[in-house]
Amino acid sequence: MTAKGRFITVEGTEGVGKSTNIAFVEQLLQQRGIAYELTREPGGTPLAESIRELLLAPRDETVDPDCELLLVFAARAQHLRTRIQPALAAGRWVLCDRFTDATYAYQGGGRGLNGEHIVALEALVQRELRPDLTLLLDVPVEIGMARARGRGALDRFEQEQLSFFERVRAAYLRRAAEEPQRFRVIDASVSLPEVQQQLAGALEAYFDE
Ligand SMILES: Nc1ncnc2c1ncn2[C@@H]1O[C@H](COP(=O)(O)OP(=O)(O)O)[C@@H](O)[C@H]1O
Ligand SMILES: [Mg+2]
Repeated sequence: MTAKGRFITVEGTEGVGKSTNIAFVEQLLQQRGIAYELTREPGGTPLAESIRELLLAPRDETVDPDCELLLVFAARAQHLRTRIQPALAAGRWVLCDRFTDATYAYQGGGRGLNGEHIVALEALVQRELRPDLTLLLDVPVEIGMARARGRGALDRFEQEQLSFFERVRAAYLRRAAEEPQRFRVIDASVSLPEVQQQLAGALEAYFDE
């Protein structure tokens, strides 16, 4: 029987360095000879990527927060069933750029939606499945926003006010404090080599667990 793969998620607000550092995490996995799949949310399958486009596109129409929440979980259901669960069952690890902690942070913290509704959708869509390890990259919001602005045109979320991202960051940190076993909080405000040093330390310890 193949051992189940482990599910690692990378979280944080805009511009903290998730995409940049995921490439480094991949190197660590490769060095250990771990078979893995890299994916992201919202997205990760053709249908879920189409839903991502719907979610991120700036638009004149105000997006109802419940509509946003349901689209996020619709994409997640497809991604989990057709990609994440089959990979884990086959013994491959899954490295995912954002997952349900982002829903608690953005739709819960940022939009102010009732956390119990998110808990209910999480139970419906994920059943028992939760990430095994979550790397939370944390930086003061202004620094992250300055980094994100350097990347070009802003998506619908990136166009939000600073106060929105303060709530998102606070919600992430609350979740990390509630589940210290699953989360590793990385200070991502420092230079890239220093961020990577923290990531290597956290992951080497985790690989040996
Ligand atoms: N520790 C760091 N110090 C300075 N700049 C960084 C650091 N980490 C990432 N960056 C830069 O910040 C920008 C946003 O990084 P990115 O990985 O796209 O963030 P995210 O995926 O979290 O939104 C990129 O231009 C990246 O090169
Ligand atoms: Mg990114």
